[in-house]
Amino acid sequence: MSTWETVRVEVDEGIAWVELNRPEKRNAMNPTLNREMIDVLFALDEDDSCGVVVLTGAGEAFSAGMDLKEYFREVDEQPEHVQRRVRRDANYWQWRLLRTYAKPTIAMVNGWCFGGAFTPLCACDLAVAADEATFGLSEINWGIPPGSLVSRGLAETVGLRTGLLYVMTGRTFDGRKATEMGLVNWSVPRARLRGEVESRARELLEKNPVVLRAAKLGYKHAQTMSWDTAEDYLYAKLEQSQFLDEERGREQGLSQFLDEKSIRPGLQGYRRKG
Ligand code: COA
Repeated sequence: MSTWETVRVEVDEGIAWVELNRPEKRNAMNPTLNREMIDVLFALDEDDSCGVVVLTGAGEAFSAGMDLKEYFREVDEQPEHVQRRVRRDANYWQWRLLRTYAKPTIAMVNGWCFGGAFTPLCACDLAVAADEATFGLSEINWGIPPGSLVSRGLAETVGLRTGLLYVMTGRTFDGRKATEMGLVNWSVPRARLRGEVESRARELLEKNPVVLRAAKLGYKHAQTMSWDTAEDYLYAKLEQSQFLDEERGREQGLSQFLDEKSIRPGLQGYRRKG
């Protein structure tokens, strides 16, 4: 695996720990980091030793959002096509690549999480925070409305009233509150965060990856479809997963329940053979 200037990647027993690595700038996302994250996500997609991606930050921060100096002020002075490229790179990994990533993704929010950091946070499939983490839609505090897809991701994840409260006031909240509002799945004391995420990642690694991919993409895409289209699409997704699933999970599951009577799928997964 390559090395990057602003991102650290370690793949260990199926889990790729992807750490935004500008701790001295609280992992603010500058154009270099955005370009490198595209590369990282492509590399991990192709890496068979990676089954789950965990996104986190080095030091005290998950990410302090977009880099106010290098992503905003310095780019303001550049020609328009440079501004377009810089924005395109940011959105490409923070939303487009992550939201429909082929492998499961978990955001591990270890500390400060502000503004633009909400886009990759919402784009990940699951999220776990430290109780002590501090979240905030701080844009209003420095004079802009939330840009990019922050508002879109937030509205989809926590809904209208809750999202607007924080967008309009810039108030901060902690990991427990983030759990209560559905922004993350749960929070634990910071000292237990990595262990907790590791167990959840292992739980996902036990699942059939083809079925997992179809399930998560189906769930995300169907949200914005009409009922009729969603019905057709989700059946197509189911059939696609059977077509692509070389381990024939459905047949194994049916046989272990109906013939062998060795599992109760309401309570446990089928034993994966081959
Ligand atoms: N963009 C650019 N630089 C940032 C940054 C950001 N979003 N967030 C932090 N930094 C830089 C600071 O400028 C400082 O750099 P310096 O050492 O060269 O002066 C360094 O990171 C440390 O920041 P500091 O404010 O001293 O750290 P802190 O631990 O006391 O506070 C925060 C951390 C996150 C509360 C604070 O840095 C902050 O409010 N950042 C802005 C968050 C924000 O509004 N983000 C929204 C962007 S869309």
